[in-house]
Amino acid sequence: MTDIDLNAGALAPVAAETDFADLPVSGRLPDDLNGVLVRNGPNPLAGRFEGLGVLSWWPEAAMLHGIRFENGRARTYRNRWLRTQRWARAHDAARAPSYADTNPNVNVIRHAGATLALAEGGAPLAIDAALDTAGPGLPRTAFASGMTAHPKTDPHSGELFTFRAGWKPPYLRYGVIDATGEQRVDQEIAMTSASMMHDMAITATHAILFDTNVAYDFTMLARGHRMPLRWHGEREARLCVVPRNGGAVRWLGIAPCFIQHVVNAYDADAATIVLDAIRYPWYLRLAPDGAGFDDNPPGALWRYRIDLTTGEVGETAVGECGVELPRINDRFCGRAYRYLYAVEQPTPFEMRGLVRYDWASGTFARFSLPQGDQNSEPIFVPRAGARAEDEGWLLACVYRHASDTSDVVVLDARDISGGPVATVHLPVRIPTGFHGAWLEQAAAT
Ligand SMILES: [Fe+2]
Repeated sequence: MTDIDLNAGALAPVAAETDFADLPVSGRLPDDLNGVLVRNGPNPLAGRFEGLGVLSWWPEAAMLHGIRFENGRARTYRNRWLRTQRWARAHDAARAPSYADTNPNVNVIRHAGATLALAEGGAPLAIDAALDTAGPGLPRTAFASGMTAHPKTDPHSGELFTFRAGWKPPYLRYGVIDATGEQRVDQEIAMTSASMMHDMAITATHAILFDTNVAYDFTMLARGHRMPLRWHGEREARLCVVPRNGGAVRWLGIAPCFIQHVVNAYDADAATIVLDAIRYPWYLRLAPDGAGFDDNPPGALWRYRIDLTTGEVGETAVGECGVELPRINDRFCGRAYRYLYAVEQPTPFEMRGLVRYDWASGTFARFSLPQGDQNSEPIFVPRAGARAEDEGWLLACVYRHASDTSDVVVLDARDISGGPVATVHLPVRIPTGFHGAWLEQAAAT
């Protein structure tokens, strides 16, 4: 794998927690954009990454960044490390938290009145509006000790669908947590070995989990790798189709691949599920010398058509460009939808530019960035009172190579090619990180 300098450019961590108020804005921020854009990602406590490559990047300490929008203004920026045992050991042992160590550095969601930081392999932590760590997340559930970073919220019922994948038995657990935070389904799913499971999908009737070709190899630890994960071409890649409220599962074979992120899924009819995802023909494949990895290819948009009658799964590549970090209007999660938004990958090493894909017309629209700049995933924020699926704003953090700082761009989701309607200029860099969320708040009076 081409060495990546994790301490330069868009990936480079920041060394301190900072606060800024009244951020400069170019253009005009929409008056109906009231809330906080939150980002989560790995940021070493010492302010520097050790090592090269993604497996030295993924496990580092969780840092949140938040930009607060209010009545057409960008009021504040703030970043905070999560207050974990790891943070206390490095910064302030006297303030060690009472809960077990965890490092939820991947995603942020809201559920049952709580804002949660998540990462697979660790317990969720609740955070407050100021990004301060409030304590354990989902405390009344079987998933308080660990769950995926990509659970799915049904926009109609408010239920949270989740899973936990472990490197030791039980390898897989599926669950449903209701809108009040109570566990409704908790089901172990039998597997004979573990694999890397990052995301999941839901429809109105089923959940779908992924057992694909990136799996564990603990001999890698003795060879100096920080995480024992690699491509296993010999594994059978499978979709696990689970009745939404639990019950007998079906395993359906697909071509070898790694599915990192789900776009969306829905019931096309009583016997057909459409599943859209970001697929890799291989991922984390060890190079012939066994010491490093081949370069990952860019992610590609694929549509899977699952026939529940025959168990056959149709697989189709869609589009001509590399894409990753897909988002939709979350009000359409698990239901028929028309639009997706994603980061473009002009090369496997760049997250540069945004795309909007329209399934009805089969066309991409683009928001492009100059070479050297990079951007985060786009987050869709519905306009106040919006009815149409694409009536909203698309928010993304953009790293500017020339200034070594970040902007937040606000695009009209219907016209991303038209460029930002507003750009918030931060005095600091928001490192690339993983995922984020829009935390809506009532406008201050
Ligand atoms: Fe992810």
